[in-house]
Amino acid sequence: MLQDIPTPTQLDPLESTGCILETERLALRRPTLADTKAIAHLANDRRIAEMTRRLPHPYLHDHAVEFVNALSAGSDTVFLIELDRQPIGLVGIDWREPEVPELGYWLGVAHWGQGYATEAARAMIDFTFEEFAVEHLISGARVANPASRNILEKCGFQWSGVELHRFAAIGSSTPVDRFKLSRSVWSSLKHWGTSTRR
Ligand SMILES: CC(C)(COP(=O)(O)OP(=O)(O)OC[C@H]1O[C@@H](n2cnc3c(N)ncnc32)[C@H](O)[C@@H]1OP(=O)(O)O)[C@@H](O)C(=O)NCCC(=O)NCCS
Repeated sequence: MLQDIPTPTQLDPLESTGCILETERLALRRPTLADTKAIAHLANDRRIAEMTRRLPHPYLHDHAVEFVNALSAGSDTVFLIELDRQPIGLVGIDWREPEVPELGYWLGVAHWGQGYATEAARAMIDFTFEEFAVEHLISGARVANPASRNILEKCGFQWSGVELHRFAAIGSSTPVDRFKLSRSVWSSLKHWGTSTRR
């Protein structure tokens, strides 16, 4: 059953369900403190930080601990992406603006170029539209990030304009292509149907 757009106290259905999403090759589950070493190891790469708004560089173990601890109180729904039971990245929804939840993701560099981010993004999109009564998802990709733009377009997102956003790792603002996916477009594309839940 669809939940209403979440209030800050009911943001994360994963907290209560321990839900795991499974795709053809990946498992997506809630990150815990036991994952912080792996998260820090994967995230500590300038090539990732420079394409994501909030990741600092260098990315230390303390950053990962702070990130995981903040999840229970914060406004993000985050899944750890696992391949053969090994963490390879993160995908999540930022609910700071509940009417327009924002999709984000990153993978460790060793795992780029194999379609994993598209697979994880589709599972996250399905989960969000299936669990919450939202009409749109938004996302963004730096103008200098054609791989992410490609993922968003493959998931049905449509370009909606360019905005300047500050990126922590580069310490300045840079142009970001903004994208929007409506529930109706998602419904029409849902034949991708690659994820199951347990
Ligand atoms: C963006 C990112 C998640 C891509 O992960 P990935 O698993 O390699 O992505 P996928 O393989 O699912 O899809 C990437 C697509 O972009 C294409 N692509 C990759 N590099 C490209 C480039 N330089 N120019 C054009 N297209 C490119 C790939 O061919 C692929 O498309 P295809 O499946 O049609 O061939 C990964 O590079 C990353 O973590 N980057 C740093 C963080 C980031 O950019 N996050 C997104 C912003 S929130």
